[in-house]
Parts: sequence; C-alpha cells; structure tokens
Amino acid sequence: MSHLDLAVLGAGNMGRALIGGLLRQGTRPERITVGEPSAQARQALEREFGVRATTDNITAVREANVVVVAVKPQDVAAVLKPLAPEFARSRPVVLSVAAGVRIAALRDWCGNQIPVIRAMPNRPALVGAGVSGLYAPADVVATQVDRVERVMGSVGEVVRVETEAALDVVTALSGSGPAYFFLLAELLAQAGTRLGLPAPTAHRLSVATLYGTGLLAHSGDGDLPRLRAEVTSKGGTTEAALRAFGAADLAGIVERAVAAAAARGRELAQQYVAD
Ligand SMILES: NC(=O)c1ccc[n+]([C@@H]2O[C@H](COP(=O)([O-])OP(=O)(O)OC[C@H]3O[C@@H](n4cnc5c(N)ncnc54)[C@H](OP(=O)(O)O)[C@@H]3O)[C@@H](O)[C@H]2O)c1
Repeated sequence: MSHLDLAVLGAGNMGRALIGGLLRQGTRPERITVGEPSAQARQALEREFGVRATTDNITAVREANVVVVAVKPQDVAAVLKPLAPEFARSRPVVLSVAAGVRIAALRDWCGNQIPVIRAMPNRPALVGAGVSGLYAPADVVATQVDRVERVMGSVGEVVRVETEAALDVVTALSGSGPAYFFLLAELLAQAGTRLGLPAPTAHRLSVATLYGTGLLAHSGDGDLPRLRAEVTSKGGTTEAALRAFGAADLAGIVERAVAAAAARGRELAQQYVAD
C-alpha cells in the first residue's frame, strides 16, 4: 500500500478529527505535519497526538504527498496561493474539505498542474462516525484517490460522486443532515414534555431513540422502508403518528428543505471563485 505523508492545514474541528482518525487507524504521528496559526492549538496537537505543528504552512507541506486543507472556506485562497511554488516542486495531491470552494478555484490557487480532490464530510466525523461525499476529477491518478479515500475513511464512510455539482446535494443531505435529525429529536422531546413527561426524561428518551435508530439503520442491509414497516403494526400507535406526518406532507417539507440547503450552498459557493 502506498504510504501517506500528510500535511493538515488548519487544526480546528475537522482537522483534529482527521488527525485523530488517522492515528487511530495506525498512521504514525511522524508522518503528519500540521500548519496551524494558534500557539495553543499547536501545543495541544503536539501533546495529545505527538504530531509536529508549525505556523509556517510551507514547512508543513514540504514532505507531504497529501495536503489536507481544513481551514474555513473564506481562508482557503490566502492559505493556498503562497504554497503554489512549493507544490510545483513537491507535487502532492491536495484534498479540500472546505464547503463550497470549487475545484476550478482550488486549482487556480494551487497551480493548475496540481491534482485537487474535494470531500464533504459531516459533523459526526468528530466521533469517527461521519460520512463524506468525495469528488475526484477524472485526471487524478488512482493512487492519489486511494490515499485521499484513506484519509477521509479514517473518520467514517466515503461515498464517491461522479460530478462536482453532486457535492452541493451531498452538502444539503449529509452535510446539513445531522441538524435535521437533531431538530426532529428536539421536537420529539418537546412533544413528549407537552404530553406530560418530565423534560429530562423526554430528552433522554429522544436522544437514545435517535442513537438506537441510527445503529439499527446502519446494521444489516439498511432497507429503510422495511425497518419502518417492522415498527409499524396495522392499526397501531406508530401508524397513527405516520398518518399525521403524511397529512402534513412531511415528504414535501423534507424535499423543500433539502432543496433550499442545496440552493444556498450554490449561492455561498459564488463567493469563493478565483480572481
Ligand atoms: N466542522 C464540520 O462539521 C465540517 C463539516 C464539513 C466541512 N467542514 C469544513 O472544514 C473546514 C474547517 O472547518 P472547522 O469546523 O474545522 O473550522 P475551525 O474549527 O474554525 O478550524 C479552522 C482552523 O484553521 C485554522 N487556520 C486559520 N487560518 C489558517 C492558516 N492561514 N493556516 C493554517 N490554519 C489556519 C484556524 O486557526 P484559528 O482558530 O487560530 O484561526 C482553525 O484552527 C471548513 O472549510 C468547513 O467548511 C467542516
């Protein structure tokens, strides 16, 4: 298997999740260098993970065959542009997890000959249970795509998509998706409280139901209609609730919500174009 020499630029939530995931999967700490401006964050990285951390991103990427860009979208251009001459020498593959920053802009900033891959992870990556949509342009070679899949695979599942535009839908579905499930769990707890349960009891029941349902959906074949049918007996309580959801056009509400997220993603992406 080809080896990973990794630079992670930006050790916030996602950068740290990836570093932790890779170390848990057996990547040696000396193979990871982090570029991070905050002294406090650098000390924490060295202490907790044993990885090298520097303020100088050029030093961070010097030995890397994979460079992970995990800074805020608005910081990506400023981080990448000064690295272009170093990339021209070292020829890494650049993996960006920055939401909405397009391949064309990333390539422009990295130098057009540098292979660039985008991934859209989600928040559960922070507990190793994320899912990432990954788009690799056709001209990126297989060994580089493999390396990048190993990086994203360290924090959860990886799903390849065929077009960059599909990442806007990934963002709207699994990127924002945790918020949808949190909202539903919140509303369930609220409903339980209104119907007479103590609020902490309703909260516990709701969160545990979310967790258990996720585990169940993830085990076996994940056939959602069948799993739903298995908890819905004819003429029973669940059926009464599902009928109320149907009458309120829950399917239409969800479709409109996800479409709104995708449209907003496309809108936000307009800000991060190359100049
Ligand atoms: N968190 C998520 O659930 C999630 C999900 C999907 C995608 N993403 C993407 O992941 C990226 C990072 O998100 P995040 O939540 O991890 O953000 P974050 O916690 O704010 O982390 C960004 C990190 O980048 C550092 N940074 C800023 N300027 C830098 C520079 N010039 N060189 C190196 N590092 C620099 C920041 O340091 P300071 O704090 O000192 O400025 C901070 O530690 C974003 O682009 C986001 O779209 C995140």
